[in-house]
Amino acid sequence: PGPVPFHGARQSGVLHRQLPATRLLALDLPAATDRAALRTLLAAASDVLARAADGGLADPRLTGAPPATSLAAIGPALAARLHLPAPAALAELPAFPGDRLDPARSGGDLLLQVSAEQPWTTGILTEHLLAAATAAGATLRWHQAGFLPPAPDGQTPRNLFGFKDGTANPDPADPALWQQDGTVLVYRRIRMDTAAFAALPADGRDLATGRRADTGAPLTGTAEHDDPDIYAKHPDGSYVIPATAHVRLSSPRLDGGARMLRRGWSYDDTPTDRGLLFLAFMPDPALFTRVQTRLAERDALTPFLTHTASAVGWVLPGAREGGALGEGL
Ligand code: HEM
Repeated sequence: PGPVPFHGARQSGVLHRQLPATRLLALDLPAATDRAALRTLLAAASDVLARAADGGLADPRLTGAPPATSLAAIGPALAARLHLPAPAALAELPAFPGDRLDPARSGGDLLLQVSAEQPWTTGILTEHLLAAATAAGATLRWHQAGFLPPAPDGQTPRNLFGFKDGTANPDPADPALWQQDGTVLVYRRIRMDTAAFAALPADGRDLATGRRADTGAPLTGTAEHDDPDIYAKHPDGSYVIPATAHVRLSSPRLDGGARMLRRGWSYDDTPTDRGLLFLAFMPDPALFTRVQTRLAERDALTPFLTHTASAVGWVLPGAREGGALGEGL
């Protein structure tokens, strides 16, 4: 793992490749918080995150730890309360059919994410971040740890259904994902019924996904990065990628080409509460709403999934050299 600059036009937690251990923290701020208090909090968090990126955190437990990536995002309620220059589209998501959201695991005024090679590192960084945040008056609303399986460099990690997850993704530097170097994070905690899914026959799992579990190739192709052709038909007129396949219903072709950058981590909190931490970045969360509306209604994966938490946040532009996140607010 090479150096991970904290400073730059856009935050490292979106731009940099996914690191295998992650931790999400959602903080609430007192009702009286004004812009100055928010800037103070973000400066304190930035100080920790900048040191986490360059190895400068004075904690012997982090000696030799490779750098961490991070991001900070502001929840819609706080952005509205302080009239922050967030994207106009920043708003909580509507309710979707089948949602079982736990408010104690959802929402928040400030969402922070740190990712590193090891949970050891993210856990200790969480201590430092929380200490800085509580000293600035914030309280912890929820936290969530996630991980990726070991995968040789450059390979797409698999999710708990055993499928490669993250294949069809735009380049994080794609200007269409950004709005003045900020973007919007959509977070969903999705419980996966891995036993029920595993009980499907192998071709049923591939048909539900629209890709092959072994290679990750779409059912209309032979290699992982072949583009799924959602219009291809069998001689009998049926679609090769079925009408209810996940990659059909989530295809950018159904949204005029609009794409989100997906960053999934698995979580494993108890033997019956395991699944995917779905994080996605897009300038307008209405894209997520359109896709999730289709998925909730028709996706063949949906019977095996339960959305248990949700959050949205304005991913702030990066910190300029020597500066802090949010100092322009
Ligand atoms: C693609 C799994 C939830 C949107 C995929 C792929 C898999 C997958 C295996 C194909 C490989 C790839 O391109 O990454 C899952 C699982 C989910 C889940 C297991 C739940 C636990 C969601 C949700 C959304 C979503 C909630 C958005 C509302 C997408 C998109 C693609 C995709 C946009 C790429 C489609 C394309 O460009 O071909 N997902 N997904 N997924 N998924 Fe999901």
